[in-house]
Amino acid sequence: MNFDKPRPEFYKAPLDIFQFNGMPYMQLGKSGLWVPRVGLGTWKFGRPESGDEARVDQETGLRIFDRALELGVTFWDTAPRYNNASGNSERVIGAWFKANPDQRRNIVIATKLYGGMDGLTPNHCRLTRGNIKESVYASLERMQIDTIDLLYFHHYDAYTPVDESLSAVEDLVRADLVRYLGVSNFTAEQLHQHRELESAFGSRCRIIAVQNQFDVLRGEHPDYPGVRKLTQEMGAAFIAYSPLAEGFLTDRYLDLSAVSKGDRIYDQGMLTNLATPANHASLRALAELARKWELSLSQLVLAFTLSLPGMGPVIPGASSVAQLESNAKAGSVTFTSSQINEIKAILTPAP
Ligand SMILES: NC(=O)c1ccc[n+]([C@@H]2O[C@H](COP(=O)([O-])OP(=O)(O)OC[C@H]3O[C@@H](n4cnc5c(N)ncnc54)[C@H](OP(=O)(O)O)[C@@H]3O)[C@@H](O)[C@H]2O)c1
Repeated sequence: MNFDKPRPEFYKAPLDIFQFNGMPYMQLGKSGLWVPRVGLGTWKFGRPESGDEARVDQETGLRIFDRALELGVTFWDTAPRYNNASGNSERVIGAWFKANPDQRRNIVIATKLYGGMDGLTPNHCRLTRGNIKESVYASLERMQIDTIDLLYFHHYDAYTPVDESLSAVEDLVRADLVRYLGVSNFTAEQLHQHRELESAFGSRCRIIAVQNQFDVLRGEHPDYPGVRKLTQEMGAAFIAYSPLAEGFLTDRYLDLSAVSKGDRIYDQGMLTNLATPANHASLRALAELARKWELSLSQLVLAFTLSLPGMGPVIPGASSVAQLESNAKAGSVTFTSSQINEIKAILTPAP
């Protein structure tokens, strides 16, 4: 071999397997799947002109996806039921893949199933063998892809035997239509039940991620206490949904007199619940720290969420490219232990 021969350009590419496009990646639980520290929630992406009540139309959604790829925000979270069970969040993703077929392998797609979508009988919902398979086939078609990287059970099913659901997932994993399993909106007891049975299926049906509501101000949803701790013990990743409290944990709510119609939490009637005097005092104190450290409030919140033990990637929603860009920056922020203590001192109880 002639070692003096100049090496092809690609040999010079940095072999950094822990980041993509500048975004640090992390292992999802103890699985072999790696994801960016900051992903993207697409709950509000859809086709508002169809009356599906989405807030981000396809044109804006496609622009956000283009920029997300450039920033390494390559973990996209969706569900068939988003926006009035329209499937439109998945369709916007499908439109992007149609325009960018060579990018499929760079994006980690997470979607879900549980509620009724593509039929009206009692067999067209829940975690039955039939519904799991049909729902996955429909999601793949809407997203114009061949496999789902992470499939969540969107909700616990009290009627279908757990081993029936898991065996359906096992078939899908064997056929490479699904790669990994997660669950969402599960209680600790329901997680225990799954854990007891999943070992019968080897790694194919091991829960690698649990997606429940969590934000640093309010902690875990009161209906699902103890799930974060259990998830950590299981070696799965806890993925916080609505990590910005649907927009409240951002600088825009520091001046409540400036809030108006057109803001998501205002339009959904949530502002009064969130903007209690105690929450608002915490918000102002966190914003003060963020300013001191040259961050926005939302960047501080996302980076602090990422620092919590057992926490998987964050998946904030974004309704503009500017919001996405701001959120992506949180992926590279790490705090010293004294900074973490300063943040914790503001939050009661500290998460
Ligand atoms: N598994 C489940 O049952 C479940 C339930 C809910 C959500 N999720 C997932 O979790 C994802 C994230 O949750 P989420 O969308 O409910 O709430 P979120 O991430 O807490 O907040 C997103 C909202 O915050 C605002 N925002 C985001 N970045 C901002 C920034 N940098 N500056 C100012 N405002 C900003 C935007 O509001 P505006 O639109 O008002 O600008 C955006 O729609 C969802 O998209 C979905 O994928 C899952």
